[in-house]
Amino acid sequence: QIDVCLTPDLLQLHKIENTIVVVADVFRATSCMVTAFAYGVNSIIPVATVEECRQWQERGYLAAAERNARKVEGFELDNSPFTYMDEQIRGADVAMTTTNGTLAITKSRGAVKVLVGSFLNLDAIARFLHSERYDVLVLCAGWKGRVNLEDTLFAGALVDRLKDNYAMAEDSAIMAWRLYVQGKDNLTSYLANSSHIRRLQRLGIQKDIPYCLQHDLYDVVPVLRGNSLVSMTV
Ligand code: MLT
Repeated sequence: QIDVCLTPDLLQLHKIENTIVVVADVFRATSCMVTAFAYGVNSIIPVATVEECRQWQERGYLAAAERNARKVEGFELDNSPFTYMDEQIRGADVAMTTTNGTLAITKSRGAVKVLVGSFLNLDAIARFLHSERYDVLVLCAGWKGRVNLEDTLFAGALVDRLKDNYAMAEDSAIMAWRLYVQGKDNLTSYLANSSHIRRLQRLGIQKDIPYCLQHDLYDVVPVLRGNSLVSMTV
């Protein structure tokens, strides 16, 4: 079965022990992580708080911190995929905290596997899951407990790719899938006026939006191993 959890605040309703969780924060945490691995980052430690991120920084890690879509002062990196398209981060071990994305990943501990999904690696995630036997839960990072449209659309896209192998478990999976089918021919206009797009536009972060909506750019599947995300190539 494939199910969709529309916000981490509803995660307690799901049993994740026998499930593969795919965390999605399309704008921009998981798109950023996928890009970072595609450009050669070695590992990413996702942490929930700025304080934890600072502790990793003090231990010598490159550190990325974002709150409310802005870089937190005193950290080397932010949350834009474009920041990671740089030779200097090749081979780096990064610690990262973001408003919603890294929090959703840390809440998923206890699942059989925790994967990081975005439109950029949608096909790689789908191919990986084709050969798995566990149930799948797409966890949408949302925004501070609220549902958002872009992560729901990603969930629907993954349901769409897997629907021949996995039954849709609940209405949230059916809803996400129907929304994706409705919007897929022009996700940019379908998402016009959505909350985080307006937030990013207000901050002048426009170019990340079309970038994060591209499908199937990278073959990487980030997976949580202990504390760290590492990349599997499929
Ligand atoms: C998050 O984790 O909440 C997002 O990545 C926010 C952002 O776009 O910077």
